[in-house]
Amino acid sequence: MKDQQSQPRDLDGNPVTPGLPMAMLAEVTHRCPLACPYCSNPVELTRANAELTADDWGRVFRQAADLGVLQVHISGGEPGARRDLAQIVARARDAGLYVNLITSGIGITRERLEELDRAGVDHVQLSLQGIRPDMADRISGHPGSWDKKMGFAEWVRDIGFPLTINAVVHRQNLERLPDMIALAETLGARRIEVATVQFHGWADLNRKALMPTREQAAFARAVVNDARIRLRGRMVIDYVPADHHAVFPKACMGGWGSTGLNVAPDGTVLPCHAAQTIAWMRFENVRDRDLGEIWRDSDSFNAFRGTAWMPEPCQSCDRKTVDFGGCRCQAMALAGDARATDPVCSLSPLHAQVVARAESDAGADTADLIYRRMRKGD
Ligand code: SF4
Ligand code: FES
Repeated sequence: MKDQQSQPRDLDGNPVTPGLPMAMLAEVTHRCPLACPYCSNPVELTRANAELTADDWGRVFRQAADLGVLQVHISGGEPGARRDLAQIVARARDAGLYVNLITSGIGITRERLEELDRAGVDHVQLSLQGIRPDMADRISGHPGSWDKKMGFAEWVRDIGFPLTINAVVHRQNLERLPDMIALAETLGARRIEVATVQFHGWADLNRKALMPTREQAAFARAVVNDARIRLRGRMVIDYVPADHHAVFPKACMGGWGSTGLNVAPDGTVLPCHAAQTIAWMRFENVRDRDLGEIWRDSDSFNAFRGTAWMPEPCQSCDRKTVDFGGCRCQAMALAGDARATDPVCSLSPLHAQVVARAESDAGADTADLIYRRMRKGD
Protein backbone atom coordinates (compact mmCIF):
# COMPACT_ATOMS: atom_id res chain seq x y z
CA MET A 1 0.00 0.00 0.00
CA LYS A 2 1.29 3.48 -0.87
CA ASP A 3 1.50 6.20 1.77
CA GLN A 4 -1.35 8.62 1.87
CA GLN A 5 -0.67 12.30 2.62
CA SER A 6 -1.66 12.82 6.28
CA GLN A 7 -1.18 16.61 6.28
CA PRO A 8 -1.87 18.43 3.01
CA ARG A 9 0.73 21.04 2.06
CA ASP A 10 1.46 23.48 -0.71
CA LEU A 11 4.66 23.44 -2.75
CA ASP A 12 6.45 25.63 -0.18
CA GLY A 13 5.66 23.11 2.54
CA ASN A 14 2.97 25.24 4.22
CA PRO A 15 0.01 23.34 5.69
CA VAL A 16 -3.24 23.66 3.72
CA THR A 17 -6.50 23.95 5.64
CA PRO A 18 -9.48 22.22 3.97
CA GLY A 19 -12.44 24.38 2.97
CA LEU A 20 -16.06 23.53 3.74
CA PRO A 21 -18.12 21.18 1.58
CA MET A 22 -21.24 22.77 0.05
CA ALA A 23 -22.90 19.58 -1.09
CA MET A 24 -23.11 15.93 -0.15
CA LEU A 25 -24.14 13.05 -2.38
CA ALA A 26 -26.07 10.50 -0.33
CA GLU A 27 -26.17 7.21 -2.24
CA VAL A 28 -28.91 5.59 -0.22
CA THR A 29 -28.87 2.33 -2.19
CA HIS A 30 -27.14 0.65 -5.11
CA ARG A 31 -30.33 -1.20 -6.04
CA CYS A 32 -31.77 0.00 -9.34
CA PRO A 33 -34.30 -1.21 -11.93
CA LEU A 34 -32.10 0.12 -14.75
CA ALA A 35 -28.86 -1.40 -15.98
CA CYS A 36 -27.04 1.56 -17.61
CA PRO A 37 -23.71 0.44 -19.07
CA TYR A 38 -21.96 3.60 -17.79
CA CYS A 39 -23.30 3.51 -14.23
CA SER A 40 -21.11 5.52 -11.84
CA ASN A 41 -21.64 3.02 -9.01
CA PRO A 42 -18.70 0.73 -8.25
CA VAL A 43 -18.46 -2.62 -10.03
CA GLU A 44 -18.82 -4.27 -6.58
CA LEU A 45 -22.27 -3.12 -5.45
CA THR A 46 -23.42 -2.84 -1.83
CA ARG A 47 -26.11 -5.34 -0.81
CA ALA A 48 -29.43 -4.17 0.63
CA ASN A 49 -28.70 -5.67 4.06
CA ALA A 50 -25.56 -3.50 4.40
CA GLU A 51 -27.36 -0.21 3.72
CA LEU A 52 -27.57 2.54 6.37
CA THR A 53 -31.00 2.86 7.99
CA ALA A 54 -33.10 6.03 7.79
CA ASP A 55 -32.02 6.84 11.37
CA ASP A 56 -28.35 6.37 10.40
CA TRP A 57 -28.92 8.81 7.54
CA GLY A 58 -30.54 11.26 9.95
CA ARG A 59 -27.35 11.28 12.05
CA VAL A 60 -25.20 11.71 8.93
CA PHE A 61 -27.35 14.61 7.69
CA ARG A 62 -27.06 16.40 11.04
CA GLN A 63 -23.28 15.94 11.02
CA ALA A 64 -23.19 17.20 7.43
CA ALA A 65 -25.17 20.32 8.34
CA ASP A 66 -22.83 20.93 11.32
CA LEU A 67 -19.91 20.66 8.93
CA GLY A 68 -21.36 23.33 6.62
CA VAL A 69 -23.10 21.26 3.94
CA LEU A 70 -26.07 23.19 2.50
CA GLN A 71 -27.57 20.71 0.08
CA VAL A 72 -27.88 16.97 -0.16
CA HIS A 73 -28.31 15.08 -3.41
CA ILE A 74 -30.21 11.91 -2.57
CA SER A 75 -29.21 9.37 -5.17
CA GLY A 76 -28.43 5.69 -5.78
CA GLY A 77 -28.76 3.35 -7.60
CA GLU A 78 -32.38 4.35 -7.71
CA PRO A 79 -33.36 5.98 -4.39
CA GLY A 80 -36.97 4.96 -5.04
CA ALA A 81 -35.86 1.37 -4.39
CA ARG A 82 -35.77 2.34 -0.69
CA ARG A 83 -39.27 1.85 0.76
CA ASP A 84 -38.31 4.29 3.55
CA LEU A 85 -37.21 7.04 1.14
CA ALA A 86 -39.75 9.53 2.54
CA GLN A 87 -38.30 9.01 6.03
CA ILE A 88 -34.78 9.58 4.71
CA VAL A 89 -35.92 12.76 2.96
CA ALA A 90 -37.70 13.97 6.10
CA ARG A 91 -34.52 13.52 8.11
CA ALA A 92 -32.55 15.57 5.58
CA ARG A 93 -35.17 18.30 5.76
CA ASP A 94 -35.11 18.19 9.60
CA ALA A 95 -31.35 18.73 9.44
CA GLY A 96 -32.01 21.93 7.48
CA LEU A 97 -30.60 20.70 4.16
CA TYR A 98 -31.88 21.60 0.69
CA VAL A 99 -32.96 18.25 -0.76
CA ASN A 100 -32.36 17.31 -4.39
CA LEU A 101 -33.76 13.92 -5.41
CA ILE A 102 -31.75 12.32 -8.22
CA THR A 103 -33.88 9.64 -9.83
CA SER A 104 -34.49 7.59 -12.94
CA GLY A 105 -38.20 8.18 -12.41
CA ILE A 106 -38.79 4.42 -12.50
CA GLY A 107 -40.57 2.86 -9.55
CA ILE A 108 -41.87 6.10 -7.97
CA THR A 109 -45.63 6.45 -8.35
CA ARG A 110 -47.43 9.79 -8.36
CA GLU A 111 -48.68 9.10 -4.80
CA ARG A 112 -45.12 8.48 -3.64
CA LEU A 113 -43.89 11.62 -5.35
CA GLU A 114 -46.56 13.61 -3.53
CA GLU A 115 -45.45 11.96 -0.27
CA LEU A 116 -41.85 12.92 -1.05
CA ASP A 117 -43.00 16.48 -1.66
CA ARG A 118 -44.60 16.56 1.79
CA ALA A 119 -41.48 14.96 3.31
CA GLY A 120 -39.27 17.79 2.04
CA VAL A 121 -37.90 17.21 -1.48
CA ASP A 122 -37.06 20.67 -2.87
CA HIS A 123 -35.86 19.76 -6.36
CA VAL A 124 -35.93 16.77 -8.72
CA GLN A 125 -33.21 15.66 -11.12
CA LEU A 126 -34.40 13.17 -13.73
CA SER A 127 -32.00 11.09 -15.83
CA LEU A 128 -32.63 10.48 -19.54
CA GLN A 129 -30.83 7.75 -21.47
CA GLY A 130 -32.00 8.83 -24.93
CA ILE A 131 -34.38 10.97 -26.90
CA ARG A 132 -36.59 8.20 -28.29
CA PRO A 133 -38.17 5.13 -26.68
CA ASP A 134 -35.96 2.66 -28.57
CA MET A 135 -32.68 4.35 -27.57
CA ALA A 136 -33.75 5.11 -23.98
CA ASP A 137 -34.98 1.56 -23.39
CA ARG A 138 -31.93 -0.06 -25.00
CA ILE A 139 -29.34 2.02 -23.13
CA SER A 140 -31.11 1.67 -19.78
CA GLY A 141 -31.69 -2.05 -20.36
CA HIS A 142 -35.27 -1.50 -19.20
CA PRO A 143 -38.15 -1.94 -21.68
CA GLY A 144 -40.82 0.72 -21.18
CA SER A 145 -38.48 3.12 -19.36
CA TRP A 146 -39.11 6.01 -21.78
CA ASP A 147 -42.89 6.05 -21.25
CA LYS A 148 -42.48 5.81 -17.48
CA LYS A 149 -39.97 8.69 -17.46
CA MET A 150 -42.20 10.94 -19.54
CA GLY A 151 -45.11 10.21 -17.19
CA PHE A 152 -42.91 10.96 -14.19
CA ALA A 153 -41.79 14.28 -15.73
CA GLU A 154 -45.45 15.28 -16.04
CA TRP A 155 -46.07 14.61 -12.34
CA VAL A 156 -42.97 16.64 -11.46
CA ARG A 157 -44.43 19.55 -13.39
CA ASP A 158 -47.93 19.13 -11.91
CA ILE A 159 -46.60 19.08 -8.35
CA GLY A 160 -44.39 22.07 -9.11
CA PHE A 161 -40.89 20.80 -8.37
CA PRO A 162 -38.02 22.65 -10.05
CA LEU A 163 -36.55 20.15 -12.54
CA THR A 164 -33.05 19.33 -13.79
CA ILE A 165 -32.61 16.90 -16.66
CA ASN A 166 -29.50 14.76 -16.54
CA ALA A 167 -28.53 13.60 -20.04
CA VAL A 168 -25.58 11.24 -20.27
CA VAL A 169 -24.07 11.40 -23.76
CA HIS A 170 -21.79 9.05 -25.68
CA ARG A 171 -21.11 7.86 -29.20
CA GLN A 172 -24.52 6.23 -29.59
CA ASN A 173 -26.62 9.31 -28.79
CA LEU A 174 -24.47 12.43 -29.23
CA GLU A 175 -25.99 13.28 -32.62
CA ARG A 176 -29.29 13.83 -30.80
CA LEU A 177 -27.91 16.36 -28.30
CA PRO A 178 -29.87 19.30 -29.83
CA ASP A 179 -33.08 17.23 -29.42
CA MET A 180 -32.21 16.43 -25.80
CA ILE A 181 -31.82 20.11 -25.02
CA ALA A 182 -35.12 20.84 -26.81
CA LEU A 183 -36.83 18.08 -24.80
CA ALA A 184 -35.52 19.54 -21.54
CA GLU A 185 -37.06 22.88 -22.58
CA THR A 186 -40.38 21.21 -23.37
CA LEU A 187 -40.38 19.48 -19.99
CA GLY A 188 -39.91 22.86 -18.31
CA ALA A 189 -36.45 22.06 -16.90
CA ARG A 190 -34.55 24.96 -15.36
CA ARG A 191 -31.26 23.18 -15.84
CA ILE A 192 -29.83 20.42 -18.00
CA GLU A 193 -26.68 18.57 -17.13
CA VAL A 194 -25.05 17.23 -20.31
CA ALA A 195 -22.52 14.74 -19.03
CA THR A 196 -20.25 12.82 -21.36
CA VAL A 197 -19.66 9.29 -20.09
CA GLN A 198 -16.63 9.12 -17.79
CA PHE A 199 -14.65 5.99 -18.49
CA HIS A 200 -14.09 4.39 -15.12
CA GLY A 201 -16.05 1.62 -13.38
CA TRP A 202 -18.79 0.10 -15.55
CA ALA A 203 -18.21 2.52 -18.41
CA ASP A 204 -14.63 1.33 -18.76
CA LEU A 205 -16.05 -2.08 -19.73
CA ASN A 206 -17.94 -0.36 -22.57
CA ARG A 207 -15.26 1.94 -24.02
CA LYS A 208 -15.48 0.45 -27.50
CA ALA A 209 -19.25 0.93 -27.71
CA LEU A 210 -19.50 4.36 -26.08
CA MET A 211 -16.31 6.38 -26.70
CA PRO A 212 -17.27 9.52 -28.67
CA THR A 213 -15.36 10.43 -31.82
CA ARG A 214 -13.28 13.61 -31.98
CA GLU A 215 -15.88 15.07 -34.39
CA GLN A 216 -18.70 14.32 -31.94
CA ALA A 217 -16.77 16.02 -29.11
CA ALA A 218 -16.38 19.17 -31.26
CA PHE A 219 -20.07 19.00 -32.29
CA ALA A 220 -21.19 18.74 -28.64
CA ARG A 221 -19.05 21.72 -27.64
CA ALA A 222 -20.59 23.84 -30.41
CA VAL A 223 -24.15 22.74 -29.59
CA VAL A 224 -23.67 23.55 -25.88
CA ASN A 225 -22.11 26.94 -26.64
CA ASP A 226 -24.97 27.91 -28.98
CA ALA A 227 -27.65 26.69 -26.59
CA ARG A 228 -26.10 28.55 -23.66
CA ILE A 229 -26.44 31.80 -25.60
CA ARG A 230 -29.95 31.03 -26.86
CA LEU A 231 -31.27 29.91 -23.46
CA ARG A 232 -29.56 32.49 -21.24
CA GLY A 233 -31.85 33.44 -18.35
CA ARG A 234 -34.21 30.49 -19.06
CA MET A 235 -32.24 27.29 -18.66
CA VAL A 236 -28.76 26.64 -17.28
CA ILE A 237 -26.60 24.12 -19.16
CA ASP A 238 -23.89 22.31 -17.21
CA TYR A 239 -21.51 20.40 -19.42
CA VAL A 240 -19.02 17.65 -18.67
CA PRO A 241 -17.02 17.42 -21.93
CA ALA A 242 -15.48 14.44 -23.68
CA ASP A 243 -12.08 15.19 -22.21
CA HIS A 244 -10.23 12.37 -23.98
CA HIS A 245 -10.35 14.74 -26.95
CA ALA A 246 -9.59 17.93 -24.97
CA VAL A 247 -6.32 19.79 -24.44
CA PHE A 248 -6.61 20.04 -20.66
CA PRO A 249 -8.46 17.85 -18.15
CA LYS A 250 -11.52 18.82 -16.13
CA ALA A 251 -11.23 20.10 -12.56
CA CYS A 252 -12.86 16.96 -11.22
CA MET A 253 -14.97 17.57 -8.05
CA GLY A 254 -13.66 21.16 -8.17
CA GLY A 255 -10.51 19.69 -6.60
CA TRP A 256 -10.24 16.62 -4.38
CA GLY A 257 -11.74 17.13 -0.90
CA SER A 258 -12.55 20.78 -1.56
CA THR A 259 -16.31 21.28 -2.08
CA GLY A 260 -18.13 17.97 -1.94
CA LEU A 261 -18.24 14.45 -0.54
CA ASN A 262 -20.13 11.21 -1.16
CA VAL A 263 -21.54 8.77 1.34
CA ALA A 264 -22.03 5.28 -0.10
CA PRO A 265 -25.03 3.06 0.87
CA ASP A 266 -23.05 1.27 3.60
CA GLY A 267 -21.75 4.54 5.11
CA THR A 268 -18.32 4.60 3.46
CA VAL A 269 -17.29 8.23 2.95
CA LEU A 270 -15.70 8.97 -0.42
CA PRO A 271 -14.07 12.09 -1.88
CA CYS A 272 -15.75 11.27 -5.24
CA HIS A 273 -18.03 8.56 -6.62
CA ALA A 274 -15.21 6.59 -8.26
CA ALA A 275 -12.63 6.87 -5.46
CA GLN A 276 -12.88 3.15 -4.66
CA THR A 277 -11.17 2.42 -7.98
CA ILE A 278 -7.97 3.61 -6.23
CA ALA A 279 -7.17 0.22 -4.76
CA TRP A 280 -4.55 1.34 -2.20
CA MET A 281 -6.73 4.01 -0.64
CA ARG A 282 -8.53 3.25 2.63
CA PHE A 283 -11.86 4.95 3.36
CA GLU A 284 -13.55 5.65 6.67
CA ASN A 285 -17.18 5.01 7.56
CA VAL A 286 -19.83 7.13 9.28
CA ARG A 287 -20.63 4.10 11.47
CA ASP A 288 -17.21 4.55 13.11
CA ARG A 289 -16.40 8.25 12.97
CA ASP A 290 -18.04 11.70 12.77
CA LEU A 291 -18.44 12.99 9.22
CA GLY A 292 -16.70 16.30 10.05
CA GLU A 293 -13.66 14.48 11.40
CA ILE A 294 -13.51 12.32 8.29
CA TRP A 295 -13.72 15.44 6.09
CA ARG A 296 -11.01 17.31 8.00
CA ASP A 297 -8.61 14.61 9.12
CA SER A 298 -8.90 11.38 7.16
CA ASP A 299 -6.00 10.21 5.03
CA SER A 300 -8.28 9.63 2.02
CA PHE A 301 -9.56 13.22 1.97
CA ASN A 302 -6.10 14.66 2.61
CA ALA A 303 -4.41 12.53 -0.05
CA PHE A 304 -4.77 15.04 -2.89
CA ARG A 305 -5.39 18.34 -1.13
CA GLY A 306 -2.94 21.18 -1.62
CA THR A 307 -0.26 21.01 -4.32
CA ALA A 308 2.65 19.21 -2.63
CA TRP A 309 1.39 15.79 -3.80
CA MET A 310 1.49 16.81 -7.46
CA PRO A 311 4.01 15.38 -9.91
CA GLU A 312 5.66 17.25 -12.75
CA PRO A 313 4.56 18.72 -15.12
CA CYS A 314 1.68 19.85 -12.84
CA GLN A 315 4.02 21.35 -10.20
CA SER A 316 5.47 23.79 -12.72
CA CYS A 317 2.20 24.44 -14.54
CA ASP A 318 0.05 27.60 -14.26
CA ARG A 319 -3.12 25.52 -14.36
CA LYS A 320 -2.38 23.55 -11.16
CA THR A 321 -4.88 25.69 -9.23
CA VAL A 322 -7.35 25.64 -12.14
CA ASP A 323 -7.75 21.92 -12.85
CA PHE A 324 -5.78 20.52 -9.85
CA GLY A 325 -3.98 18.06 -12.10
CA GLY A 326 -7.25 16.64 -13.45
CA CYS A 327 -9.19 13.63 -12.24
CA ARG A 328 -7.46 11.24 -9.81
CA CYS A 329 -9.68 8.33 -10.80
CA GLN A 330 -8.98 8.91 -14.47
CA ALA A 331 -5.24 8.97 -13.68
CA MET A 332 -5.76 5.65 -11.90
CA ALA A 333 -7.68 4.16 -14.84
CA LEU A 334 -5.37 5.39 -17.59
CA ALA A 335 -1.94 5.59 -15.95
CA GLY A 336 -2.41 2.97 -13.24
CA ASP A 337 -1.32 5.67 -10.76
CA ALA A 338 -3.76 8.00 -8.97
CA ARG A 339 -0.89 10.46 -8.30
CA ALA A 340 -0.04 10.91 -11.97
CA THR A 341 -0.93 13.94 -14.07
CA ASP A 342 -4.30 13.11 -15.60
CA PRO A 343 -3.22 11.46 -18.88
CA VAL A 344 -5.88 13.28 -20.90
CA CYS A 345 -3.80 16.45 -20.33
CA SER A 346 -1.79 17.31 -23.44
CA LEU A 347 1.25 17.92 -21.16
CA SER A 348 1.16 14.40 -19.72
CA PRO A 349 3.85 12.03 -21.04
CA LEU A 350 1.04 9.47 -21.55
CA HIS A 351 -1.19 11.80 -23.56
CA ALA A 352 -0.33 10.51 -27.05
CA GLN A 353 -0.99 6.94 -25.93
CA VAL A 354 -4.34 7.89 -24.38
CA VAL A 355 -5.46 9.77 -27.49
CA ALA A 356 -4.46 6.86 -29.74
CA ARG A 357 -6.49 4.45 -27.58
CA ALA A 358 -9.49 6.81 -27.49
CA GLU A 359 -9.37 7.20 -31.30
CA SER A 360 -9.15 3.45 -31.71
CA ASP A 361 -12.10 2.83 -29.31
CA ALA A 362 -14.14 5.59 -30.99
CA GLY A 363 -13.61 3.85 -34.34
CA ALA A 364 -14.61 0.40 -33.05
CA ASP A 365 -17.40 -1.19 -35.04
CA THR A 366 -19.59 -2.28 -32.14
CA ALA A 367 -22.66 -1.06 -30.31
CA ASP A 368 -22.85 -4.06 -27.97
CA LEU A 369 -23.20 -3.14 -24.31
CA ILE A 370 -22.20 -4.80 -21.05
CA TYR A 371 -25.00 -3.83 -18.67
CA ARG A 372 -24.67 -3.05 -14.99
CA ARG A 373 -26.51 -5.82 -13.15
CA MET A 374 -26.84 -6.67 -9.50
CA ARG A 375 -25.92 -10.16 -8.48
CA LYS A 376 -28.67 -12.54 -7.30
CA GLY A 377 -29.55 -11.83 -3.70
CA ASP A 378 -28.53 -8.13 -3.79
FE1 SF4 B 1 -3.50 20.58 -15.36
FE2 SF4 B 1 -1.25 19.25 -14.66
FE3 SF4 B 1 -2.00 19.40 -17.22
FE4 SF4 B 1 -1.09 21.57 -15.98
S1 SF4 B 1 0.08 19.71 -16.41
S2 SF4 B 1 -2.88 21.46 -17.34
S3 SF4 B 1 -1.94 21.25 -13.90
S4 SF4 B 1 -3.12 18.37 -15.55
FE1 FES C 1 -12.62 10.58 -8.71
FE2 FES C 1 -12.49 12.43 -10.70
S1 FES C 1 -13.94 10.78 -10.44
S2 FES C 1 -11.37 12.36 -8.82
